[in-house]
Amino acid sequence: MVRIITGLQFGDEGKGRVTHFESKKADMVIRATGGNNAGHTVVANGKKFAMHLLPSSIIRKDVVSIIGNGVVIDPKVLIDEIVEMNNNGIEITPDNFKISDRAHIIMPWHKDMDVILEKQKMNPIGTTKRGIGPCYAEKCLRTGIRAYDLTDPTSLMYRVVDSVSYNNVFLNHFGYNLSSQYALDKYVEYGKFLKPFICDIHSIVHDALSADKNILIEGAQAMYLDIDHGTYPYVTSSNSASPGACVGAGIGPKYVSEVIGVMKAYTSRVGEGPFPTELKNEIGDKIRDLGHEFGTTTGRPRRCGWLDLVMIKQAVDVNSLTCLCVNHLDTIGKFDEIQVCTTYSYKNETINYVPINLENCTPASYHMFKGWDTSNAKTYEDLPENAKLFISLIEKYTGVPVKYIGIGPDENDTIIR
Ligand code: IMP
Repeated sequence: MVRIITGLQFGDEGKGRVTHFESKKADMVIRATGGNNAGHTVVANGKKFAMHLLPSSIIRKDVVSIIGNGVVIDPKVLIDEIVEMNNNGIEITPDNFKISDRAHIIMPWHKDMDVILEKQKMNPIGTTKRGIGPCYAEKCLRTGIRAYDLTDPTSLMYRVVDSVSYNNVFLNHFGYNLSSQYALDKYVEYGKFLKPFICDIHSIVHDALSADKNILIEGAQAMYLDIDHGTYPYVTSSNSASPGACVGAGIGPKYVSEVIGVMKAYTSRVGEGPFPTELKNEIGDKIRDLGHEFGTTTGRPRRCGWLDLVMIKQAVDVNSLTCLCVNHLDTIGKFDEIQVCTTYSYKNETINYVPINLENCTPASYHMFKGWDTSNAKTYEDLPENAKLFISLIEKYTGVPVKYIGIGPDENDTIIR
C-alpha cells in the first residue's frame, strides 16, 4: 500500500504534521522530489531540528527512510544533517537510511549558476539559491552527476571533468573559472561518508511492495511550484505534484491507494509569481504574524492572502486526491471576517479554473465567514459552527473529505476525522 502526501498551494502548508501521523503506520518513507530548498522541523528527544534533506521519518528507527531518485542532493548539507542527528542520539545506519544511486548531486557551480541566473533575469524567480534549478537542468542535459558517481572515484572524475568544461563555457563570462580538482577533492570525501547509504533502491522498494508493506511518499514543495502544473516560470524545477512523487520514488500509479493533499486555511507564497488573493495590507501582515509565516529554509517573510479554492480544486484534480488536511484553522479564525475566493475574473469572464496567465486573474467572488475560536476543540464536533461551515465549503467545492484539521502549532493540535 502506497500513500502520498502532497502540498496544494505554494509550499509550506505544514506537510510535516500529516507525515508525522501517517509515518506511524509506515514501514518505509520515501522523499521523492526537490532538495534542500525544502525545510521541515523534526522534534526528537525533546529537541527541534530544522531538516532539509532527511525524510522526517528518520527519527523512527523501525522505519526505512529513503531519498529517492527524484531528489537533488547537496552532499555537504546531507552529511551535516546526518552528523547532527547522530550527535543527538538518533542513530542513522545503512539499515534505516538509504539514498538512491540515481539521485542527482548538487555541485558548487550549480549554486553559482543559480545566483547568476537570478541576477541576469529581468524578472527573477526568487529562488532559494541552493542550486536546485541548475542541478535539475544538468540532469535533463544528461551531463549531471549522480549519487552512484560519489561511490566510484573514477566515474566521478569523468563526470566532473565533463561537467566543469561544459559549465565553464557559461561561467567564464562571469569571471568564474571552475577547477575540477577542487570539486573532486571535496566530493571524493563526501562520497566516502555517504557510500554506505547509497544503493540501488529498486529491489528494496519493490520487495516492500510485494510484501504488502506500508509505504509513504513524502512530498516537497507543492502543486503551484510544480514545473509543469505550477505558475511557470515562478516554480521550482521538479514535478512536485503527486505524479512526480511516483516517478521520484520509482513506484507506478497502480500501487497508490491514498493521496493526501495538505493546505492552509489561507494562502502563502515565498518568492515571486502570481497570487490572486494576496493581501498587501494590514490583513496580510496580520496573517503573517499570527501564522508565523517566515521561511524555514531562507527566513524570508512569506506573502499572505485569503484561501483560494479555485487553485485548491485544480490541485485536487491534478493530484487525484483522496482526502485533505487543512492547517491553521485556528489562525484564520482569529479574524472577524474571513474571505474565501471561489471564482476569478479573467479576460472579462468569470472562471473557476487556473489559466496559464494567472497573473491576469483577480478574485471575482468570495464566500464570507465570521471568525471562530478553536481553543477548546478536541474533536470535529467541538468546533464552532462557523469553523464547520468553512470546512464544509472546502469539501463541497472540492468533492474531497477533510480528514485532518490543524488547530495549533503542536502536532497534537490535530483533529482527525
Ligand atoms: P528553487 O526551488 O530554489 O529554484 O526556487 C524556486 C521557487 O520555489 C522560489 O519561489 C522558492 O521560494 C520556491 N520554493 C522552493 N522550495 C520551496 C519550499 O519548500 N517552500 C516554499 N517555497 C519554495
